[in-house]
Amino acid sequence: MPRTSQVLLDNRPSAEAQASNFKMDTSDTAPLQPGQVLVRHHFLSLDPYMRGRMNDSKNYAAPQALGAVMIGGTAGEVVESQSPKFAPGDKVVGMGGWQQYSVVGADEPGALRKVDTRQVPLSYYLGAVGMPGVTAWYGLTQIIKPQTGQTVVVSAATGAVGSAFAALAKARGCRAVGIAGGPDKCRYAVAELGFDACVDYKLHPDAASLSAALQQACPSGVDGYFENVGGMVLDAMLPRMNDFGRIAVCGMIAGYEGRPTPISYPALILRSRLRVEGFIVSEHMDIWPTALKELAELVASGKLKPRESVADGLDSAVEAFLGLLKGRNFGKQIVKLV
Ligand SMILES: NC(=O)c1ccc[n+]([C@@H]2O[C@H](COP(=O)([O-])OP(=O)(O)OC[C@H]3O[C@@H](n4cnc5c(N)ncnc54)[C@H](OP(=O)(O)O)[C@@H]3O)[C@@H](O)[C@H]2O)c1
Repeated sequence: MPRTSQVLLDNRPSAEAQASNFKMDTSDTAPLQPGQVLVRHHFLSLDPYMRGRMNDSKNYAAPQALGAVMIGGTAGEVVESQSPKFAPGDKVVGMGGWQQYSVVGADEPGALRKVDTRQVPLSYYLGAVGMPGVTAWYGLTQIIKPQTGQTVVVSAATGAVGSAFAALAKARGCRAVGIAGGPDKCRYAVAELGFDACVDYKLHPDAASLSAALQQACPSGVDGYFENVGGMVLDAMLPRMNDFGRIAVCGMIAGYEGRPTPISYPALILRSRLRVEGFIVSEHMDIWPTALKELAELVASGKLKPRESVADGLDSAVEAFLGLLKGRNFGKQIVKLV
């Protein structure tokens, strides 16, 4: 059995996550037992939720154990199998963690899924046609539930989740507006992702200024807002919401490193009779097949053109992850392992 390089969580951050919170290690992969398969990971997914797992505090999921391999989605290939369900050469996605190989019980529900790479590249199953894409699908179709002609807005518009949003919203006849950091991301949002407009929040020193720019981009107000960021961006969005608007609270990355992100005027939720609902996509596995089917079709037809930030090798995973938490990624952040 091959040796595998791994990244472990060594200690918990006290404020911002640091490279010193992680430790590189190597170990032997365990010999296969009946029902198990050995997977070689080609790509590792880096996601903001991992920052929450590094803390030992109340969350929707248990903290990452110290000294254990960092949790993470992986896409790769079966190299050896003791299960009739998988054969060497099968392309698979799973939760193999920050390492080169994993041994997986093929009968564990949801542990390993075969994927078809004829029309969709393997790495996209960690992004547009994977968990982040399904997240965009869930918030838009199950919480915002837009009608044709309505205006919907997403923050972190060019990231893994946000970049699937425009194609899904356009398919439902909506005006789709993005919020992103910097002119390059905003240009790409309109030119490649299909947003009708994109507002660069970094041009605005405060929520009032950003809110005025959003008013220009959304002349009929906003019926649905997909929240990925929180803080100033949410403060700027609340006054733009139409009566009976819906806010799907997906993430609040502006506060993940411990900065407080207060809402200045929560009374706007009452005044506009808003519906605000948080969700965790892994608690809605029933909708994944429908969502993945639509997302794969959008990619195959060229209506969804995701972009990836690719870090090279497991040694670069920590730096890429810390960069993701600072917005240095442009598109889905992955690590290429093969
Ligand atoms: N609820 C769920 O089930 C679920 C599932 C998946 C993801 N999420 C959440 O969805 C959000 C987006 O995730 P993702 O994987 O698609 O990440 P991502 O958008 O690919 O990357 C994070 C992006 O957040 C933006 N950002 C805005 N304000 C920021 C700030 N103060 N600090 C750092 N970054 C900031 C950056 O883009 P700009 O340069 O444009 O600012 C950065 O590129 C995250 O909040 C994540 O936790 C939730």
